[in-house]
Amino acid sequence: MLELFATIAKLALYVGSFAGAGVAFAWMSLGRRLGRSAEVAPKIIAMAALAMLVAAVAGAVILIARLGGQVDTTTLSAIWETPAGPAIAFQLAGATLLLLSARAKGGMRTFQLAGGAVALVSFGLNGHSASIGLLTGAIAFLHVCAASWWLGSLLLLREAGRVLPEADLALLVRRFSMFAIVIVGGLVAGGTFLTLTLVDFERSEWLTPYAQALSMKIVLAASVLGIAVWNKFLITPRIAAGDGRGAQQLSQSIGIELGLFAGVFVATAWLTTFNSPHA
Ligand code: HEM
Repeated sequence: MLELFATIAKLALYVGSFAGAGVAFAWMSLGRRLGRSAEVAPKIIAMAALAMLVAAVAGAVILIARLGGQVDTTTLSAIWETPAGPAIAFQLAGATLLLLSARAKGGMRTFQLAGGAVALVSFGLNGHSASIGLLTGAIAFLHVCAASWWLGSLLLLREAGRVLPEADLALLVRRFSMFAIVIVGGLVAGGTFLTLTLVDFERSEWLTPYAQALSMKIVLAASVLGIAVWNKFLITPRIAAGDGRGAQQLSQSIGIELGLFAGVFVATAWLTTFNSPHA
């Protein structure tokens, strides 16, 4: 039962940290091209930071329950000595920074970027990748940063499809695509590196329960990529042509991408809670 609660808390942590950090990253990179659609960004960042705070506290409570349920110095120092303790501290610090800076303007928005990065560092500190070494931990951190930017951009683009005139939307989508080629390419490269590091393909039975769960995640992630390619080659030219249907089709396909993102989160939470690459 505790494992199930741990998976739910992890899912909430993914959604909160990816949406909060991702919108902060995407807002900074897409900049003025977002126009009126950026008005929704502070609200998303604040709500996501709250979800992250609740998830981080829930994660800590679950960890204490797993260690016997006593809130004493022995339990707390035991948690602090494992990577989980510092990871929770980074999640709480990142979420607080994001919450406090959600409505920041101008140069103060750097605090949003810092809050997002601090929150995501937790994935590079704790987990299967981090347990292998510094390099794999760093790649895991960059992998989640790239995935967050992608999710944050989709949330803002969906709003843009609703409020921007098609000519402005076309310019925004062009700017997004420019960044996406590099960032999503980096996400896939990082994910491939982690897969090759974590799965022992030299084992005769390499398709362990871990590898099976990872394959499920990769299939879902590949489906999001497929829709992104569809958007780029079929919907983007329609928006640029200004035929009046492009914006609506973009919103619909982003809705599907967000649904698949949720699937990737469920598969990753399952993968990292119930499976070990070394089993
Ligand atoms: C929509 C795209 C993706 C999202 C949202 C995503 C999300 C994540 C998250 C949240 C983690 C950290 C898990 C944790 O430590 O709790 C992670 C790790 C990982 N990702 Fe991705 N990912 C995506 C695409 C990919 C792709 C395309 C691959 C493979 C080619 C991949 C392979 C991995 C691997 C191997 C790990 C390490 C898992 C572990 O610690 O056991 N990911 N990803």
